[in-house]
Amino acid sequence: MCGIVGYVGKRNSQDILIDGLKKLEYRGYDSAGVAVYTTDGLQVKKSKGRLAVLESKLGEKPLSGTIGIGHTRWATHGKPSDENSHPHTDNSFKFSVVHNGIIENYISLKEELIAQGHVFVSETDTEVISHLIASLYEGDIVKAVQKAVSRMKGAFALGVLTEYEPDKLVAVRLSSPLIIGVGEGENFIGSDIPAILEYTRNVYILNDGEMAALTRDGVELMTLEGNFISRELFHVDWDIVTAEKAGFDHFMLKEIHEQPKAYRDTMGARLDESGQKVVLNEVGMTPEQIRAIRQVHIVACGTAYHAGLVGKSVIEKLARIPVETDVASEYRYRAPIITPETLVIVVSQSGETADTLAALREAKRCGARVLAITNVVGSSVAREADDVIVTWAGPEIAVASTKAYTSQLIAFYLFGLYLAQTLGTVDEAYIAEVAAGLQELPEKVESILAQADTIKEIAEQVSTHDNLFFIGRGLDYAVALEGSLKLKEISYIHSEAYAAGELKHGTLALIEEGIPVIALATQDDLFEKTVSNIKEVKARGAHVFGIHAEGDAELAKVVDHTFAIPATLPLLTPALSVVPLQLLAYYASLARGNDVDKPRNLAKSVTVE
Ligand code: F6R
Repeated sequence: MCGIVGYVGKRNSQDILIDGLKKLEYRGYDSAGVAVYTTDGLQVKKSKGRLAVLESKLGEKPLSGTIGIGHTRWATHGKPSDENSHPHTDNSFKFSVVHNGIIENYISLKEELIAQGHVFVSETDTEVISHLIASLYEGDIVKAVQKAVSRMKGAFALGVLTEYEPDKLVAVRLSSPLIIGVGEGENFIGSDIPAILEYTRNVYILNDGEMAALTRDGVELMTLEGNFISRELFHVDWDIVTAEKAGFDHFMLKEIHEQPKAYRDTMGARLDESGQKVVLNEVGMTPEQIRAIRQVHIVACGTAYHAGLVGKSVIEKLARIPVETDVASEYRYRAPIITPETLVIVVSQSGETADTLAALREAKRCGARVLAITNVVGSSVAREADDVIVTWAGPEIAVASTKAYTSQLIAFYLFGLYLAQTLGTVDEAYIAEVAAGLQELPEKVESILAQADTIKEIAEQVSTHDNLFFIGRGLDYAVALEGSLKLKEISYIHSEAYAAGELKHGTLALIEEGIPVIALATQDDLFEKTVSNIKEVKARGAHVFGIHAEGDAELAKVVDHTFAIPATLPLLTPALSVVPLQLLAYYASLARGNDVDKPRNLAKSVTVE
């Protein structure tokens, strides 16, 4: 996720910007840059790579000035490169912008600006903003930004500087975080508190739809419509480590809570204005090529593989194309039957997993078209695939994957709908129903997160055991696999996920008095069968925690504890039912005193086969 820093005061801004960007490094980034107003006008330095690369550029020719903006970029639109790094400027080089978020309508705005004679030098959505502000400027930067923002759709935070008003910094927040730091004769902007904590502990937290104009002597807060706002300063008494985690105890918990935003961002402009149709401009397949697909192979590792299991059900249900999901380390060696009519979908948060990359190359060697679902623009997987659907979850720092997994589910729902639209395999009313259901998910996840304490109590009970089971049927089984993996990797408790109907073929022998069983029963058509399987484990003394859809009172009669997820379409339940399981793993790990974010023996990116 991009990091923004801005400074206006009396000190040398370059040093403060670089220092602030270093404090935001934990957010993940692939390039960095600063713009400073100097005696030679607005000067920009930026480069792909770590901050050290930028620092060495600045070391050769420092930028001297007391107002500036800085940025660490985590690529969304366009690969990591010097040109795509922020800050971006307009053609006159009088306006400079740093941006975090996504401008959904940037293509139409860019076309309009090109028609007016603007020339673009990057692939980014951000560059559109600097040109747009320049084209709307009539002597007042605040008004120009307001006009520009009224034309922009999406979620974003901005820092804006113009040579015409070299004592003023403008900041905007719309769904992407931004804070204002208030000092003595100096003021700051930052996408997160750690960026400015060394200089001041007094901050204004901007709300959505608010903006600020900063000079060295003061800060004016206002709505995007220009109505002034008065607000109490917030005094930060966190230490820097807590501040990096936005007040959460661990990155994993922070990332679990970021899921509503990750869902919204991943859906973003991929649903059209009616909200009923999927638009996937990034998928270059023609309708003929889509009609020619005879089979889909989904290939991935670990959690991403589990997302692929849900993806299989989604594509088969919506597009009626046969799908196989494979673990990447097995795929290559089982001589899979891959033909030019096979679409291979590789799923990888990092885009660098060696086994997944090897599977991608094997698929291409056999002539298949490869679609990547990845969270990292410019990653190896993204570069080598034919088409890429980026999950806009933002960088995931905890080793245990949470928001990346659920964003992968959203990508599968969107792609499944896209195929169905093209192939006409389900009626339009159902497509509209699924699309509407998708848009309701973020709020429903929020309501689950609000019940974290209930899950914490269950987790504390579970944490005293050494073995447990997750059971479910159909999509519930796919989610059970993910819940079990999450628990294993961070709590070190042994667990197995079983297709509920399969237990009696051997594993039921392991069920003994008091063993915890997490039973998922969210699928209407499989509910009664799952209840029968629950009764089988209950009869042998298991202590059962049941997860079911709201409004369904039956499960409570057969299990020891229940947790209800908000009602949604059965196809969409994985995007909700996994959330209590993530929290369960988190709190069980915590109860056992483990290092939640860095579990033993594991790495975030597995680049060896
Ligand atoms: C588990 C986890 C791993 C990854 C797997 C694939 O929480 O994070 O199982 O899902 O190593 O990684 P990516 O998605 O980066 O290819």
